[in-house]
Amino acid sequence: MIRVSKSYDRRAALTDVTLEITKGEFVLLMGASGSGKSTLLRLLIGEERPDQGQIFVYGKNVSRLTRDEVPYLRRKIGIVFQDFRLLPHKTVFENVSLPLVVQWASLADIRRKVTEALRAVGIEHKKDQIPKNLSAGEQQRVCIARAIVNGPVVLLADEPTGNLDPERTVEIIELFKLINERGTTVMVATHDPHVRTLVNRRVMTLRQGVVVAGTEESGA
Ligand SMILES: Nc1ncnc2c1ncn2[C@@H]1O[C@H](COP(=O)(O)OP(=O)(O)O)[C@@H](O)[C@H]1O
Ligand SMILES: [Mg+2]
Repeated sequence: MIRVSKSYDRRAALTDVTLEITKGEFVLLMGASGSGKSTLLRLLIGEERPDQGQIFVYGKNVSRLTRDEVPYLRRKIGIVFQDFRLLPHKTVFENVSLPLVVQWASLADIRRKVTEALRAVGIEHKKDQIPKNLSAGEQQRVCIARAIVNGPVVLLADEPTGNLDPERTVEIIELFKLINERGTTVMVATHDPHVRTLVNRRVMTLRQGVVVAGTEESGA
C-alpha cells in the first residue's frame, strides 16, 4: 500500500500516488520517460523517502526505515535494472551468489540456492562464464536469477527489456510471468508499448507523476 508524493528541487516527480498491490499480483507500471516510474520503485525499496505519504510493504512502513533496516527490506525485494549491473570480473555463479554471500550464508546453502535460481531462469549452463561472454538476454536472465536467489516476496523490474530486441523481450516477460505464477509478486516498469501487448494483467499508468489509470486492482 502506497500513498505518496515526491519532489526533486520542488518539481513534483510523483503527486499523491495511491497504489495497493496484493500478494501474488503482476502489475505493469507504464508511463513515458520522466513520468515517475523509477522514482516510485526507489520509494518502494527505501532508497528514497517520500515528502508526503507512507509506503507499507508487508505491513512494514518502509518510508520510515532506519539506515540499518534498509538491507533487511532489500532481502525481501528483488530488483532488476535495464543496464544489468553485473560485476564484470565475476562469473555468473559468483554474481548470483552475491546477495547470499553478504548475508554469510553457508557454502552448501549458496550452492543449492544459486543452482536453483540459475535453473529457474534457464542459464545454468553458463554459470562459469563472465558477463561479457553472454548475450544481452542472457545477462538479463542472470540479473533475474540474482534478484530471486533470496526467495523475495516481491520482484521489481525497472525497464528490464530496455536493452533487448523484441524476441528477447518476449522471453524475459514470459520469465517474469513464470516467476509470478510460482507465487512472487511482480511489478514491471516500462515505457515500451510492446511489453503492454505481452502482459494481459493489471496496468497502472503514470503521466507526469500522476496515476491516470489502474490504481485499483480491478482497474486493469
Ligand atoms: N535524483 C533526481 N534528481 C532530480 N530530479 C529527478 C531525480 N530523479 C528523477 N528526477 C525527475 O523526476 C521525474 C521522474 O523521473 P523518473 O522517476 O526517472 O521517471 P521514469 O522512470 O518514468 O522515466 C523526472 O522529471 C526526472 O527528471
Ligand atoms: Mg525510469
